Amino acid sequence: MDQIATRPSFGPPPESEYIYENWEILARQWYPVARQDEVSAKPFAAVLLDIPLVLLRNSAGILIARNACPHRGVPLSMGQLVQDELVCAYHGLAFNAAGQCVRIPSQPSYKGSAKLGLKTFPAIEHLGLIWTCLLPEGEPVLPDMPEWNDPAYETILPPWLDIAGAPGRQLEGFIDVAHFAFVHDKAFADPENTVVPAYETNVTETGLHTDYYSDISNYPKALQHLAPPDFRWLRAFTIYKPYCAKLTVHFPGEQRYHILNCASPVSTRKTRLFVPIARNFDTLGSVESVLAFNAQIFAEDAAMVETQRPITLDPRVSEEEHFAADRTSVTYRRVLKQMGLTQA
Ligand code: FES
Ligand SMILES: [Fe+2]
Repeated sequence: MDQIATRPSFGPPPESEYIYENWEILARQWYPVARQDEVSAKPFAAVLLDIPLVLLRNSAGILIARNACPHRGVPLSMGQLVQDELVCAYHGLAFNAAGQCVRIPSQPSYKGSAKLGLKTFPAIEHLGLIWTCLLPEGEPVLPDMPEWNDPAYETILPPWLDIAGAPGRQLEGFIDVAHFAFVHDKAFADPENTVVPAYETNVTETGLHTDYYSDISNYPKALQHLAPPDFRWLRAFTIYKPYCAKLTVHFPGEQRYHILNCASPVSTRKTRLFVPIARNFDTLGSVESVLAFNAQIFAEDAAMVETQRPITLDPRVSEEEHFAADRTSVTYRRVLKQMGLTQA
């Protein structure tokens, strides 16, 4: 009997089986991998583009390293920080703030070779999040939201949301304006108001920009009386390629609501979504009600993204058809294609 054929199954293949076709292009970009308040002396595990990472805060700042001990590959997130040294849970190897091995308990006289140094990555704290890049080159390019540091604004950082879908699909859903009447009819949209008025999209240095005017309220259903009946809502979308988009909703008067959709690519088919929010008004109610409204909308969107097939988006070719309402999505696909992506 064929021994290989009778080996027991150990479940689905590891994520590395699905490694990105465009890993190097994507690995040169910066992404958020944790909230600032999640990273402390206690090691925190994250995954970016199929690479497991460990994050912690030590005397030198934030350490981000590959989450596998160079000795025998146990996750360093299982270890602990002892006197500023990260100590592995398996054989107690200790790594200093720079990631160098400084102690091998089983052989104290030996400090190990360079092979035992941790593979580290840069860290930037920005918009309440920790950002990193797996293949850094040149000046870091990060999306901007100046309102985050403007005292006229209140900032809100909802918990991140894990989505079993591709980051390109998620981002495309965030900039899509034709689904409101169908997906968000209970949250804010009108199921009868389905037509998307014509709008323009322009390619920019960071990706693209769309100003979308319509009469679809952005207030939750219970608060829609707060806007004049004939109010024209402006939703301004700015994309920071490949997977970030900022939406500014112009509420009546000078009220502005900014939300940054950062789709962090865990793998080809998993996305960790971070959404820093800044608002200069409180007619939407308490922070708790904003969090609940936001969670409802993103859950409604995730239900679509997680079922789309094919799972990933190929910006070069598509059997999918586009309409005028999809102008922003079509331009987004063009931007991805220009980056050289074949899978997003
Ligand atoms: S695997 Fe980390 S010390 Fe051996
Ligand atoms: Fe949506």
